[in-house]
Amino acid sequence: MAVSTRRPACRPVEARREELAAPRAVALLALLLLLPLQASALTLPGMDEEQTVTQDDPAVAKLKGMLGELREKVGDNPSDFKSLLEMGALLSKLDELAPDGGKRVPEALSAYRRALDLAHDPQVRSFVAAQMGELLLAAHFHKEAVHVLSQAVPLAQQVGLGQTDTFARMLLHFAKAHRELGNEREAQRLFAQALKTARNVSPHVYAQAWLGLDAYSDQELKELEDCADFLRRRREGVDEEHLSEGEMDEWLDLTERWTWLDGELRGKKDQSAVVYALAAAYRQHGRHEDAWQALGEASEVRRTFDPYTRVDEEDNVRQLLRTFQLPKAPEQFENETDAVWAALLQGRWGHREEGLRPVFVVGLPRSGARLLERTLTRHPQVGSIGEQSTLPPQLRTLLDLLAVDGELPTANITAAGSKTLAGMRRQVGEKDASKAGARFVLDRMLPNLWSVGFIAMSLPDACILHVERHPADQGLSCYEQPFEGKFTRWSFNLTDIAHQTLLMQRVAEHWDALAPRRVLRVRYEDLVRDKERVLRSVTEHCGIPWDEAIMKGGPKLHAQRVQRFKGQAHLLEPLLRPLRQLILRYEHAAGLPEVSRPLLEELLGAEEDSGEAGASSASPPSGQKAEAEANGHHEEL
Ligand SMILES: *[C@@H]1O[C@H](CO)[C@@H](O)[C@H](O)[C@H]1NC(C)=O
Ligand SMILES: *[C@@H]1O[C@H](CO)[C@@H](O)[C@H](O)[C@H]1NC(C)=O
Ligand SMILES: *[C@@H]1O[C@H](CO)[C@@H](O)[C@H](O)[C@H]1NC(C)=O
Repeated sequence: MAVSTRRPACRPVEARREELAAPRAVALLALLLLLPLQASALTLPGMDEEQTVTQDDPAVAKLKGMLGELREKVGDNPSDFKSLLEMGALLSKLDELAPDGGKRVPEALSAYRRALDLAHDPQVRSFVAAQMGELLLAAHFHKEAVHVLSQAVPLAQQVGLGQTDTFARMLLHFAKAHRELGNEREAQRLFAQALKTARNVSPHVYAQAWLGLDAYSDQELKELEDCADFLRRRREGVDEEHLSEGEMDEWLDLTERWTWLDGELRGKKDQSAVVYALAAAYRQHGRHEDAWQALGEASEVRRTFDPYTRVDEEDNVRQLLRTFQLPKAPEQFENETDAVWAALLQGRWGHREEGLRPVFVVGLPRSGARLLERTLTRHPQVGSIGEQSTLPPQLRTLLDLLAVDGELPTANITAAGSKTLAGMRRQVGEKDASKAGARFVLDRMLPNLWSVGFIAMSLPDACILHVERHPADQGLSCYEQPFEGKFTRWSFNLTDIAHQTLLMQRVAEHWDALAPRRVLRVRYEDLVRDKERVLRSVTEHCGIPWDEAIMKGGPKLHAQRVQRFKGQAHLLEPLLRPLRQLILRYEHAAGLPEVSRPLLEELLGAEEDSGEAGASSASPPSGQKAEAEANGHHEEL
């Protein structure tokens, strides 16, 4: 609308290079405080992570002190096994407490590798390798993790670590790494083995391994029910005085059976994992009402652990949109500030690099991002850094630049872009050596959707792909996930999910207006139904040369759509009501015309507030068959 796009977003790198050389001269215009001062109150996913944690947390400061000492020790004596091992563990711990985009990982790995070289006792070796595997998994180095653990596991078995917490953890990490690589069958085998090993020895692995399973026998369902029952009563407290004799016996039985979990399974994440698994098991057994109830309990447990406030999120979005005012068209420029702002958003002072182009996949979870990532990385020239984005550490700098009163320090914008891209290149090589020289580096940190304006400023060559999926499918799928991350705290309540969906829609629409055609929307349903057409448009948008390799491997269609929810539709009202218009618009745009209109009308009544979707005749509930297909909860999305 208001923007001049003299430079369409996605032309080949070479063509744009020349255009850029000239405008440098005009770069040093005054950018006078264009932005509201409150911009500094804006927080973006991942921004300031290290700083905030470090400042607030004395534990982190202490660990950093200890790290300094260990480095000295190891410096003095490079074959100090104990210090090397401690150093690896400490760096891992720091990475967990105060993530910094994986920068500590190489040092930790190198410490473990040296420790491994020094260890001769097989038991010690397998322990070191287990630690290393855990670190690699946490750092999303899945291939490496599988490699290390495939040696550690047999070794641990040989030396009789078979029924220990260490071994159970090893198996769990091994399973998770396989899953990440798409080796689902092997992952299932390992989750089952981890579960078996964990009983009575490892509460954490016990809880998490259940979640990994894709299928549950009758007996396993019963075990989960008992375990969840025990945990619930423990949480809520049992008034033993008022139990009848029979109830008391029953309670004592439960206590005796599960006492090994007690105390250790305090973490709400592990407690909720058991209940999430129970919900999945009920669902698989066709017990949908029970599944729904379990899901409610699991989310409730999670929610008390990770509270989320809708109002804060809304303020934050308002702040973001105010910060990124739409630029004016050139003929409406009133002064230099307007011109600078428009040029800034077009990336005039951003960083570009010959033969290296960043690709950002953004959006809401469970929308097909992983599928798109796996598909694109089959291309020999596309490497991925997964979710370990290198953009967030630059966001504070970029945000501060927007509030500069005076000459715009353009070199700082270039520097921020350059650091982001250098980080991506480094990580791609670390994660997969065969992709070290890839010309396209992909970042799959979905909440970067918040940061599209900053990407546009600092990385003008960046190709941005926004994955989307049917809002009801996507929302429900999020609700069913035991997400662990900080950016998904809205996923434990249907009202919050609907709210988040609408907010992110607002953000995406703002970016569309701010930088038209810059972001390509990629619908999951289209990717599944019409792969070649979608991939052609994606590769064209990103300037990736076509390669048949990306057509290999086919995702299964996990079409659910609203019909799947028929049986539980009344429970989904908090999700469906706010999303009603969005759902209808989406179905229309995706060529799934009105699939859910009858159901929505049946459930929510005739539309009250819409001129937009047209008057709807009260059509009777459709006779369409509900898709009864029981979806595994681990489908590739
Ligand atoms: C430039 O124009 C905008 C209105 O378009 C105004 O808010 C701003 O103060 C002006 N800046 C200068 C330096 O005059
Ligand atoms: C720009 O970068 C320079 C050099 O790193 C730094 O000294 C300066 O404070 C930065 N300016 C802003 C406004 O961030
Ligand atoms: C979601 O949270 C709100 C409070 O913010 C609560 O009233 C509502 O019952 C919750 N919804 C569900 C479906 O749990």
